Amino acid sequence: MKIAIVGATGLVGSVMLKVLEERNFPMDELLLVASPRSVGKEIPFKNKPIKVIGIPEAIEQKPNIALFSAGGSTSIEWAPKFAEVGTTVIDNSSAWRMDLDKKLVVPEINANQLSKEDKIIANPNCSTIQMVMALAPLHKKYKMKRVVVSTYQSVSGTGVKAVEQLENEIAGKKGEMAYPYPIAKNAIPHCDVFEETGYTKEEMKLVRETQKILDDKTIAVTATAVRIPTAGGHSESVNIEFENDFDVTDVRKLLSETDGVIVQDNIDVNTYPMPMYANGKDDVFVGRIRRDMSQPNSLNMWIVSDNLRKGAATNTVQIAEYLLANNLV
Ligand SMILES: NC(=O)c1ccc[n+]([C@@H]2O[C@H](COP(=O)([O-])OP(=O)(O)OC[C@H]3O[C@@H](n4cnc5c(N)ncnc54)[C@H](OP(=O)(O)O)[C@@H]3O)[C@@H](O)[C@H]2O)c1
Repeated sequence: MKIAIVGATGLVGSVMLKVLEERNFPMDELLLVASPRSVGKEIPFKNKPIKVIGIPEAIEQKPNIALFSAGGSTSIEWAPKFAEVGTTVIDNSSAWRMDLDKKLVVPEINANQLSKEDKIIANPNCSTIQMVMALAPLHKKYKMKRVVVSTYQSVSGTGVKAVEQLENEIAGKKGEMAYPYPIAKNAIPHCDVFEETGYTKEEMKLVRETQKILDDKTIAVTATAVRIPTAGGHSESVNIEFENDFDVTDVRKLLSETDGVIVQDNIDVNTYPMPMYANGKDDVFVGRIRRDMSQPNSLNMWIVSDNLRKGAATNTVQIAEYLLANNLV
């Protein structure tokens, strides 16, 4: 089993390395791949240095699986070339997510759709993954009509440059800007680029990807995505209107029995999810679960997860584990 990480020097790529190591992912060889800028650099894996190679060299070596986290344009150009030599690509960018013939997978929800024919598999957007992890069991039981979500997103969601911008600003140093404005002591209601409608692409990912993963176009979703000066994870305030009524205790029980979801919800002792605690963990944390008293069958909750873990690297590695366990590569 030969695995490649394309984008191994980036934020998501380096967490992929950690996750593969922690989970002792079964493999015989690991190829670390990045842009020509990084070729020749050494990155440690299981205490041994591995030299970074370029994409063409990696394709020649025909890895069984390539975990991609190198941006949309790299993925559009190179993922099909890996697929041509028989590699299964699991891609973290938004390049393939809405392609009709590509699967958009959160393993706990819809990995059973995968087959050997899927040579490019899309990993959903980080803010979508954590939201659907909590929504999927509720949708199954109570049927969602409408979701209103506001996000409070970590700078790590933008990549290395943005983390450096925040660190520089905190240290009072000048440096490159990943955002059009300072992010320290700020909240920027602008994640990814604006579409013609006035919504950002990040907001529309929450709409379109949720419907695709839950396989239900009737779910109405509207989103506001905001960047805040945290680094450990994304937070989301989510309001859901269901077709059927629910009992809040049952909702809490259902979520706490859901794989990959942890309920942190005890206001008597100020227990609720926060990025500070989600940082470095693979789970999705849910709290502040309460009835929306302004209309029937409606619920409010707060969802937090490490965007580099379940929102990216962990989900990708879990897809790879599913492929192996089911002989799909
Ligand atoms: N950050 C998140 O929370 C998150 C979550 C989900 C998905 N994603 C997606 O994952 C991807 C990477 O995000 P990131 O945050 O890790 O970004 P990042 O820290 O900026 O890293 C980008 C990586 O891509 C590599 N790369 C860039 N151009 C390349 C090229 N032409 N050929 C080969 N490698 C190239 C870079 O290599 P060099 O070091 O050599 O430049 C680096 O390893 C993006 O598509 C992003 O949308 C990110």
